[in-house]
Amino acid sequence: MSGALGPAPRHFLDLWPLTGVELRALLDAAKARKAARVGLPKARPDIDRPLDGRLLAMIFEKPSTRTRASFDVAMRQLGGVSAVYNATDLQLGRGETVEDTARVLSRFVDAVMLRANSHDMVLDFAAAADVPVINGLTDKSHPCQILADLMTFEEKVGPVAGARLAWVGDGNNVCASFIHAAPKLGYELTIAAPMKYAPPEADIARARAEGAVIVVTDDPADAVKGADAVIADTWVSMGDLDKDERLATLEPYRVDAALMARAARHAIFLHCLPAHRGEEVTADVIDGPQSAVFDEAENRLHAQKAVLLWCLGAVGGA
Ligand code: CP
Ligand code: NVA
Repeated sequence: MSGALGPAPRHFLDLWPLTGVELRALLDAAKARKAARVGLPKARPDIDRPLDGRLLAMIFEKPSTRTRASFDVAMRQLGGVSAVYNATDLQLGRGETVEDTARVLSRFVDAVMLRANSHDMVLDFAAAADVPVINGLTDKSHPCQILADLMTFEEKVGPVAGARLAWVGDGNNVCASFIHAAPKLGYELTIAAPMKYAPPEADIARARAEGAVIVVTDDPADAVKGADAVIADTWVSMGDLDKDERLATLEPYRVDAALMARAARHAIFLHCLPAHRGEEVTADVIDGPQSAVFDEAENRLHAQKAVLLWCLGAVGGA
C-alpha cells in the first residue's frame, strides 16, 4: 500500500511504463537544462531552482561514482539538497524491513534513489513508499544510465529514431534498459552476446511485441556492421560471482579498433563506466576519437535532473 493521502507517487523504476512521448520529454528536458547552464560555475544553481526546498535520499547497497555524484550535484543545481546513506549503515542492514524503511524515509524526504542488489527490493520499497522512488541500478536494469546514453548519441550522431545501435558483450542490466527503451524511441538494437550471457528472453519478446527491432547474435563482427554506435560494458557486473568464466567466455567480445572499423565511419563508442581497458574494450578505442564516454558520464547529471523533475511533476506533466 502506498500513497494513503494524495495521488500515487511517480516512480522511475524502469522504462517499460513510460511512453515514447514521456521519454522524449525527459531527453529534451535534459538537453535544455544542459544548454541553459553553459558557463555557470558547477556549484551555482540553475536559474529557476525548480526543486528549491526539496530533499532526495540516496541509498546504496553497491558502490557508485557517477550515479552518486550526478544525483547529488543534480539536486544542488536544481535548488534542493541530497542525503546519501550506505545501506549497511541503516537498520535495513540489521533486518528492518524494506517496507518500514520506505515508510519512514517517506516522512523525511521528497524522493528516494536506490541502488540495490535485487530489483525486487526496489519494487518492494516503491510499493511501500509515499514519495517517488528512482532505480539507480539493480541486477536487472539501469534506466537512468540509458537516458544519458541516448542523449549523448543524439548530441554526437543524431536522432535515435531509426538509428542502429550495437551492444557487444554481456547481456546485462544496462543492455536490458536499452531493450526496454527500444520500442518507445524507435532505434534498432543488435546485441552480440554469447548464449550463456544473452539478455533475458522475456525482455526481448516484450520489446518485439511492442514493435522494436531487436537482433540477437553471437557474432560481434556481424552485430557492429554499419552501426551508428557501438556500446560495451564490463564483463563482470557488481554482484556477478562467476568472474573467471565470464572473462573466458566473453573474450571474443572485446571492442577493439578492428571491430570499431566495421561500424559506420561516424559511429561513436559508448560505455557506462567503470571500464576495464584490455577486457571489454581496448584503450585505443575508449581513449580514441570515436569514444564519447566522458560526455556520456557528464550527461548523467543532466539526465538525472530530468528524471528528478519528472518524478516530482515538473517534466512531462503530472
Ligand atoms: N555508470 C554508473 O552507473 O556508474 P557508477 O557505478 O559509478 O554510478
Ligand atoms: N553492469 C554494471 C554497470 C555499472 C554501472 C554493473 O552492474 O556493475
